[in-house]
Amino acid sequence: MSDDFETPFIPVPIRSIGGRDFTVRKSELADFGALVQMYKSFEPKGVAQGLPPRELRRIAHWLARLHDKARALMAVEGERVVAHAILCPISEASVEYTIFIHQDFRRQGVGTALSRLAVEWARQAGFAELYISTELSNKAALGLYQKMGFRITSSLDNECEMKLLVIPAWQADTRAA
Ligand SMILES: CC(C)(COP(=O)(O)OP(=O)(O)OC[C@H]1O[C@@H](n2cnc3c(N)ncnc32)[C@H](O)[C@@H]1OP(=O)(O)O)[C@@H](O)C(=O)NCCC(=O)NCCS
Repeated sequence: MSDDFETPFIPVPIRSIGGRDFTVRKSELADFGALVQMYKSFEPKGVAQGLPPRELRRIAHWLARLHDKARALMAVEGERVVAHAILCPISEASVEYTIFIHQDFRRQGVGTALSRLAVEWARQAGFAELYISTELSNKAALGLYQKMGFRITSSLDNECEMKLLVIPAWQADTRAA
């Protein structure tokens, strides 16, 4: 992973449409257990190209790999993780995005708020493009991503790729100077 992606993230309070308060912060190694708990009760499993995994052992393995190769933000309510937004660098300019909201907190605007913060964090880290791979049948994901400005760039059978171009912070700084 690019060393550049050590961009700090200052915790941000967000409020759901129903008026519940959460904090969005960077996911750290110490959050591993709380993340496992979120995915243990997450439904439906396997909704996003087999993720999250069904078995606890595989959930732990997947999260450990993510810790090595990706960066993530989480929305938390007290000690409980309710949402997880993952940014996995593909190249210096491009990063893959995925988001999971626990079913108890969906359709409350949490996915939108968390995605806005994740896109901005990626931009600050210097990425110029966010990439998504998802299923065309996943209407909730498509709706969220399209609302965020992602556009479908290719599709095959039930799979599609979506992209969002952003102006990386370093480029915006250069222009302003
Ligand atoms: C997709 C997901 C992240 C959306 O999160 P969310 O917090 O419920 O989303 P929001 O409440 O912010 O809604 C944002 C938009 O998503 C779309 N959307 C969300 N849920 C939807 C649903 N059940 N049906 C259709 N559209 C839906 C809508 O366009 C919505 O905009 P609107 O409220 O203005 O109509 C969530 O449903 C989820 O975690 N699903 C399971 C995991 C998953 O599929 N992740 C994507 C992997 S590629």
